[in-house]
Amino acid sequence: MRLLSVTSAILAFIILVTEAKLAPTIRLNNGYEMPVIGLGTFESTSGDAERAVKDAIDAGYRHIDTAFLYGNEVEVGNAIRSKIEDGVIKREDIFVTTKLWSTFHEPDQVEKAFQRSFDNLNLDYIDLYLMHYPVAYRRVLQNIRLPSDDVNAFYVFPVDKNGNTLTEDVDYVDTWRAMEKLIETGQVRSIGISNFNSEQTERILSMATIKPVTNQVECHPNLNQRKLINFNAARNMTITAYSPLGRPHTPNGQKLALSEPKVLELAQKYRKTPAQIILRYTVQNGAIVIPKSTNKNRIQENFNIFDFELSDSDMQIMHGLNNNYRLIDFATDKDNKYYPFNIEF
Ligand code: A2P
Repeated sequence: MRLLSVTSAILAFIILVTEAKLAPTIRLNNGYEMPVIGLGTFESTSGDAERAVKDAIDAGYRHIDTAFLYGNEVEVGNAIRSKIEDGVIKREDIFVTTKLWSTFHEPDQVEKAFQRSFDNLNLDYIDLYLMHYPVAYRRVLQNIRLPSDDVNAFYVFPVDKNGNTLTEDVDYVDTWRAMEKLIETGQVRSIGISNFNSEQTERILSMATIKPVTNQVECHPNLNQRKLINFNAARNMTITAYSPLGRPHTPNGQKLALSEPKVLELAQKYRKTPAQIILRYTVQNGAIVIPKSTNKNRIQENFNIFDFELSDSDMQIMHGLNNNYRLIDFATDKDNKYYPFNIEF
């Protein structure tokens, strides 16, 4: 009898420690819940993305961020479906985001582009569909073997012979109206924006019948987006932080937060890694984070940020690292009238 109760106690303990702890969620302005950490998949290439998503689900992630642009929607969908089939999660346990690319901003293109992402992911529904970027790009055929009504027939970054991006003046407000119609299909639950500035957000809000739930923007300690976060919070919209680690694999990113002496000091103080300090900071700063990794250990490391809290004074130290340094500025689109990064925030 005694042996039995000891065995069941050990079993209960094993279940407790092996069962992945889940992340807190934020309630969106339409009532849906979004986990405050998700796996980013930008630059997760073929083969890696599927494994990374599976590792992330095993680590406790219940939020995955992809995009038509990333070319990995099929893999992301395969990984999620396989975890559903294995009984690890149910569809409703996981929050899946994908995005409308800039070559499909004309209102009559939106549904077609969405359908391709929807089919690629092959899940019953998509949780969140974002307009990836306010500037529209021209559709230039790259693959003459595909019919011109196939979304894969076009360059994603069309350029002229001098290498300049071919942008268009499609108004993102018209694109938004077409995105609102997608909600009626039941195939997507929430819609939102990405890389929008505050004025563009205000303009969307002034005409929208469906409010964006989030604006996904670059956000890390060197570009902490305090103003945009406050601006959005006042309008019941969230901010999702992309490149929250500051793209440490790039020459510019190398110099940023992950190697900041102050971050290293805090890492020692809290017995956490620099990445965990940075991600925790951005969550406490009020944003949802989507760090990208295809490495199992780092996927786990990045998720492990809910067992400590940065003190107010340490938050002030982290705020002090902000220098509005933008890593992804779409500089070649500067002349387009909808270019987002030429005002303060
Ligand atoms: P990897 O996929 O090999 O882990 P961001 O999300 O800011 O764009 O950063 C993504 C980059 O940061 C990727 O190159 C990723 O590489 C790397 N990365 C992800 N997690 C960590 C971590 N915990 N420590 C160091 N680098 C990381």
